[in-house]
Amino acid sequence: MNQPAFANNNKSNGNGNGNGRKAGRETVAERTEFARDLHAGLARRPRSLSPKFFYDAAGSALFDRICDLPEYYPTRTELGILQDRAPEIAAQIGPDTEIIEFGAGSLTKIRLLLAALDRPSRYLPIDISGEHLEAAAKRLRADHPELEVQPVVADYTMPLVLPSRGEHAGRRVGFFPGSTLGNFSPDEALSFLQLAQRLLRGGGLLLGVDLVKDPALLHAAYNDSQGVTAAFNLNLLTRANGELGADFDIDGFSHAAFYNAPLQRIEMHLVSRRAQVVTIDGERYEFAEGETIHTENSHKFTVDGLRALAVKAGFKPTAVWTDPKRLFSVHWLSSPAAQ
Ligand code: AVJ
Repeated sequence: MNQPAFANNNKSNGNGNGNGRKAGRETVAERTEFARDLHAGLARRPRSLSPKFFYDAAGSALFDRICDLPEYYPTRTELGILQDRAPEIAAQIGPDTEIIEFGAGSLTKIRLLLAALDRPSRYLPIDISGEHLEAAAKRLRADHPELEVQPVVADYTMPLVLPSRGEHAGRRVGFFPGSTLGNFSPDEALSFLQLAQRLLRGGGLLLGVDLVKDPALLHAAYNDSQGVTAAFNLNLLTRANGELGADFDIDGFSHAAFYNAPLQRIEMHLVSRRAQVVTIDGERYEFAEGETIHTENSHKFTVDGLRALAVKAGFKPTAVWTDPKRLFSVHWLSSPAAQ
């Protein structure tokens, strides 16, 4: 139930237990983007591919399963914090707000907030994929008839123009759960926070990020015993075969995930198990044995480090909530009104 995101982010549909991103049905434009990014990613060294391509229908279903794995603590820990601390969080946020969710989707998480907030006027889920957004919005409207739910189809890593505020619209509150911020590079994370700070002036941002911890726990979360994370990673190759007519031998690659302590991040890679050639669209790509495609970074934060980053972006960090084991953190970053 986290939302991945990155340079140009992901989509989510808020289905199922709320982990969902979009459920398949790639558009021609998305397929073209996948082809373009895959060729570019395989042409550079080291080879890499954006994690946004994980989330086709099969990948979204695998991600939902990841969120339920015993080793994958982030989703249930963040939900626990939101649930247990909802009254305190609502008190910090204050009454009469409009909520803007970046990456949208997770119905479960926004529902926890809505239950506690004092008279939220409007909810604007922003997502790059419109289809699923509208369906999710419909379900939410049915449960919250008093709330104006207005999906915004946009890339939230770019400057945004939001629908004008109605007469009764309150202060703007951003919601960015799931440690999606961790998919960005440190520079991208700062740019995103700067953008959000400007958008949310007079209100603030409720941000969920995963914390630095014992590398053994991190390692287990990305190397689960059932192999679901491995299947999620390898699904990129299955997707390339199905959508782009690539001839990846799925058994010729293996999942590798490890904690890069100096860079405070989990890295996921696909490792070529032997020397081999892959052909995509007439283009030949040679892999040496052991060569990898870097498929994801998942940055971890310290509470102080995140607060320092937020200050750099112009926020005023106030409250922070963590679980008793300090696995995950939820921050209220207020955005001072412009002088
Ligand atoms: C959705 C990006 C937060 O980084 O933990 C889960 C994605 N990758 N297992 C994360 C993911 C492998 C997840 N985020």
